[in-house]
Amino acid sequence: MFKEKNIPLSIYVHIPWCIHKCPYCDFNSHEFKKQDIKNDESIYTEALVKQLENTNINNYRKPISSIFFGGGTPSLFNPETFKKIITKIKDKFELNKNCEITIEANPGTLDKEFFYGYKDVGINRMSLGIQSFNQKHLTKLERIHDQQEAIESASLALKLFDKVNIDLMFALPQQTKLELSDDIKMAIDLNSSHISYYHLTIEPNTTFYKHPPKLPTHDESAELFDLVNKKLVNNGFLHYETSAYAKKNSECKHNLNYWNFGDYIGIGAGAHSKITTNDSIRRYVCHKNPKYYVSEASKNNYINDEQLLSTNDRIFEFMMNALRINNGFKTNIFEERTNLPIKKIEKELSIAKDKELIEEINGRIKPTLLGQQFLNELLQIFLKD
Ligand SMILES: C[S@@+](CC[C@H](N)C(=O)[O-])C[C@H]1O[C@@H](n2cnc3c(N)ncnc32)[C@H](O)[C@@H]1O
Ligand code: SF4
Repeated sequence: MFKEKNIPLSIYVHIPWCIHKCPYCDFNSHEFKKQDIKNDESIYTEALVKQLENTNINNYRKPISSIFFGGGTPSLFNPETFKKIITKIKDKFELNKNCEITIEANPGTLDKEFFYGYKDVGINRMSLGIQSFNQKHLTKLERIHDQQEAIESASLALKLFDKVNIDLMFALPQQTKLELSDDIKMAIDLNSSHISYYHLTIEPNTTFYKHPPKLPTHDESAELFDLVNKKLVNNGFLHYETSAYAKKNSECKHNLNYWNFGDYIGIGAGAHSKITTNDSIRRYVCHKNPKYYVSEASKNNYINDEQLLSTNDRIFEFMMNALRINNGFKTNIFEERTNLPIKKIEKELSIAKDKELIEEINGRIKPTLLGQQFLNELLQIFLKD
């Protein structure tokens, strides 16, 4: 029997529109036409609320621990929209009293009234997509904001919200150490409690894939990563996950739930869910195209794909998530979340230990520095056919 009632549950809501599609971005986001956004917003919100209304997850679970409005660019939408969605969530589920509610925002959409409005409707964390403070890089990344707007939106977010994350990327086209150093300094000076620092990756189906820019070499990227890591750690940030840095007690609860193989309900175009019941773990994916998602919502049909996780899937997916956390996991969490005894992976754990990719400290299995650096090699050990 799976212990589904012990497993934390969170909610992800996807908003699939942006003002401009960035050349590196592979997320389910689409450029909207200015004249359509109001109409799209209200029709899409209706579909989201309907999907929530029709989501029936067993009600004896723990209260919802976090809600995340991601995109795309949720900050294009009106606070009233989020009020409707949060109200529906509260109708259907019990919220934890410290429920973390995050909205992703793009500094190029800075609307002061909207920012105040988000706070009024109960959003308590903002994640800002800044990417860089350097104008040359912002232009190359085709961002719709400049350095000044990035700083202004971060300052306002920090004034309004207890928790603010700043998304930045490194290993940008032709980025020098000096430029990166300046970016990191500006991020630190803003004094947010969380920074996500992503290595720019070139994803298929993006403009950068079709027209590759000149990127730093593998060795140069490793040096740039070292710079990010050293500067942030020296300034009081804990490097707690592959790309995430936080001041004490400021880790992102929502992402930690993914990495700890918790459950989540995904609402909206292309959103993913992972749900444990008393006899299985299943993944669900909603229809990806926003127009199709909306049209199918009228028939109460939201799901495009459903997958039952096999034993091997459960092992690999648990490891793929939990080994991203630098502090690793406790063996009882592996057993609770996969419904498998830790003995099942005894051989693989021993291989990974022999290769010095993991270590066991005080009952926690953690990736070593080598394991963090060669995470893919580490994960291969847990991949069975
Ligand atoms: C879904 S986006 C949401 C943020 C918001 N839409 C924005 O860009 O302002 C989340 C973050 O993923 C990161 N990201 C997107 N594409 C990436 C890529 N190809 N490589 C590395 N990081 C990427 C960016 O830092 C981005 O802020
Ligand atoms: S604004 Fe964010 S979600 Fe939209 S295209 Fe750019 S990176 Fe992707």
